[in-house]
Amino acid sequence: MEQRVIGRSGRSLSAIGLGTWQLGADWGDVEEKDALAVLEAAAEAGVTFFDTADVYGDGRSEQTIAAFLRGRPDLDITVATKMGRRVDQIPENYVLENFRAWNDRSRRNLGVERLDLVQLHCPPTAVYSSDEVFDALDTMVEEGRTAAYGVSVETCAEALTAIARPHVASVQIILNPFRMKPLLEVLPAAAEAGVGIIARVPLASGLLSGKYTKDTVFAANDHRTFNRHGEAFDQGETFSGVDYGSGVEAAAEFSGLVPVGFTPAQAALRWIMQQPGVTTVIPGARNPEQARTNAAAAGLPPLSEETLASIRDLYDRRIKEQVENRW
Ligand SMILES: NC(=O)c1ccc[n+]([C@@H]2O[C@H](COP(=O)([O-])OP(=O)(O)OC[C@H]3O[C@@H](n4cnc5c(N)ncnc54)[C@H](OP(=O)(O)O)[C@@H]3O)[C@@H](O)[C@H]2O)c1
Repeated sequence: MEQRVIGRSGRSLSAIGLGTWQLGADWGDVEEKDALAVLEAAAEAGVTFFDTADVYGDGRSEQTIAAFLRGRPDLDITVATKMGRRVDQIPENYVLENFRAWNDRSRRNLGVERLDLVQLHCPPTAVYSSDEVFDALDTMVEEGRTAAYGVSVETCAEALTAIARPHVASVQIILNPFRMKPLLEVLPAAAEAGVGIIARVPLASGLLSGKYTKDTVFAANDHRTFNRHGEAFDQGETFSGVDYGSGVEAAAEFSGLVPVGFTPAQAALRWIMQQPGVTTVIPGARNPEQARTNAAAAGLPPLSEETLASIRDLYDRRIKEQVENRW
């Protein structure tokens, strides 16, 4: 698997990583043995980067990763977690005392002395402009609690504010063939500054696999049911903020553009990987087969200029208007 380096931290990550929101909650039920099998399949396929958060299953995702890594001391996997969404989303909560407490809990859950990377988990926009917040994050590094810190953002404007901070190692942002705005300014700015880009929701919550129809029913405890219109958290996190019905139609057209030898999901991942400035792409996987085929996208050839142009045209016609003004 191709490895890519985050300039500011010197850490290298596999070009395809693994998102582990599915191993916690919000995607229907997942049993422990199935969660472990997903981690195993990803690692066997060469994935060296897992993304989690303290809030996924209220710590279950972190604990499952710890259990897996305890049994596989031969692996060298970077684990990024996130903090800040177990309390009210107000700037007053983003203070050193809370950071230390959240960090203690994540280190316990992950069974490590020091986190590899901790990301602010989509905090209120005002947090990005607070010198105190970033001083506190610097203190966390000085105290040896985390090797580095980054941010997970909702908007391109938040990403640009964060990249301007000198010690932000990484920015996690939604980027996929249905979310192209980061290509305009965020990716070039990150590349220039040596900030890693972690591309999340790369399959638009599975939409880009082309497997859903307008009649598909998701479980009641799956965010694709309960957050379809942003009822529980930012609407952009569910189907990338694309209206489900028109997203299904656009995904069908996307599937028709995919070259022979690729699945639509692999083409989406490959599209993201080849955008200059991207460090790693973190598809979530419900089962080992998804984890394996997603990792395999890293070994496929780059998409041709013609395919890239067709995907761009599809975005401009069907999607752009829905998402570009919001995120
Ligand atoms: N605020 C934040 O910081 C934030 C927010 C969202 C996500 N994330 C991170 O980003 C990661 C990725 O985003 P995501 O999981 O929300 O969305 P995603 O990766 O775009 O979609 C994941 C879903 O796509 C489907 N899928 C995956 N691989 C497939 C394959 N090979 N073929 C067919 N279908 C496939 C599965 O759907 P089915 O379940 O229907 O099979 C899976 O649950 C998360 O796991 C999490 O680590 C962070």
